[in-house]
Amino acid sequence: MANSPAPLTFAIIGCGSIAPTHAKALAALPGEARLTHCCDLNATLAASFAAQFGLKVATFDEILADRSIDVVTFCTPSGHHASLGATALAAGKHVVIEKPMEITPAACDILLAAQRSSGRKLAIISQHRFDPSSQKVRAAVDRGELGSLVLAEARVLWFRSQEYYDSGDWRGTWALDGGGCLMNQGVHTVDLLLWLAGPVKTVYAQMRTAAHERIEVEDVVTATLTFANGGIGNLMATTAAHPGFVAYLGIHGTNGSAIIEGDELKVFAVKGGETIHGQSATAHALQVATGGTKSATAHAAAIPAASTEPGAWSWGDAHRAQFSDFIRAVRTDSAPLVDGVAGRAAVSLINAVYESARTGRVVTLQD
Ligand SMILES: NC(=O)c1ccc[n+]([C@@H]2O[C@H](COP(=O)([O-])OP(=O)(O)OC[C@H]3O[C@@H](n4cnc5c(N)ncnc54)[C@H](O)[C@@H]3O)[C@@H](O)[C@H]2O)c1
Repeated sequence: MANSPAPLTFAIIGCGSIAPTHAKALAALPGEARLTHCCDLNATLAASFAAQFGLKVATFDEILADRSIDVVTFCTPSGHHASLGATALAAGKHVVIEKPMEITPAACDILLAAQRSSGRKLAIISQHRFDPSSQKVRAAVDRGELGSLVLAEARVLWFRSQEYYDSGDWRGTWALDGGGCLMNQGVHTVDLLLWLAGPVKTVYAQMRTAAHERIEVEDVVTATLTFANGGIGNLMATTAAHPGFVAYLGIHGTNGSAIIEGDELKVFAVKGGETIHGQSATAHALQVATGGTKSATAHAAAIPAASTEPGAWSWGDAHRAQFSDFIRAVRTDSAPLVDGVAGRAAVSLINAVYESARTGRVVTLQD
């Protein structure tokens, strides 16, 4: 019997708020991944993170030089992703980068070029693609079950306090956050929208900084979209909607509709076929994702078996599923589900929204 390969060895760069989710996700993949090192410019934070997860603290250069480390996962401020990630790729590491991939398409291109010349794997965290609800809708889209896109509606009505923005000097800045409620919080839903409804052709947008002080970026934005496939849609995001609501994504085709709220599939309805609502829709999606039912995306296999009870899919499960997908990509020399091209597409759309809001013009996406 063939021996299974040794787990891939990981290091985390940036030990702030999202880093524990990476550490816990990797710890939940014991046969596949082994997290050994961490690094942060803040030495105290690095030391306490290392103690919490049983890691060694190292500098970035030491991590790049350490041949025992296969993968570097970046939990650093968004506007540092290209310079750090491209350096790691050039050093021969596989790279995982938190969303957004970077803050401009040009910076994303630096990462794409580094990935291509290194031949290493690059994935951008967009964990909600791995939610059973998103997987089920994507499989239906792939099979043409919803028909042609008529309308897509995406709403990210969240709340972030002034203290949140004050908690890091990069938050709420154009230079390092790259935007506000759309670039930082809305990017998850933008990526899902593009994945499920297809590429966007034109954007007309408005934005404001309406409810926070000491931030440069928008805290409310709306955009009207036309899709390359002829559908139309709208996108709305804010961090000023107290107390905050779950993200909403509705995809309506000539043959049916799917509505996802948070990570739950609220409605899935196809003319003359399956119609499911509420908790049963979520349970059904989870069953499909974990029960071995063949998914058109073939990525549902990345979702580890779990209970099919509604609510069984919780925070952290999707990061774990995305790391598992990344390890599959490295092992099989294939593309991860969320690659650099997908990461760039979300950043490109968000930048087009900002350009339209600043100029008052309809912006046509070039790529
Ligand atoms: N997927 C998600 O749901 C999710 C959630 C939160 C944040 N994020 C993303 O994760 C990234 C980090 O966000 P955060 O909220 O954890 O930020 P944070 O400010 O809490 O942590 C960032 C850490 O990176 C460190 N750092 C900065 N530059 C560094 C460098 N050159 N080398 C080593 N360490 C460095 C900082 O000292 C800080 O501790 C952002 O891109 C953000 O958009 C994703």
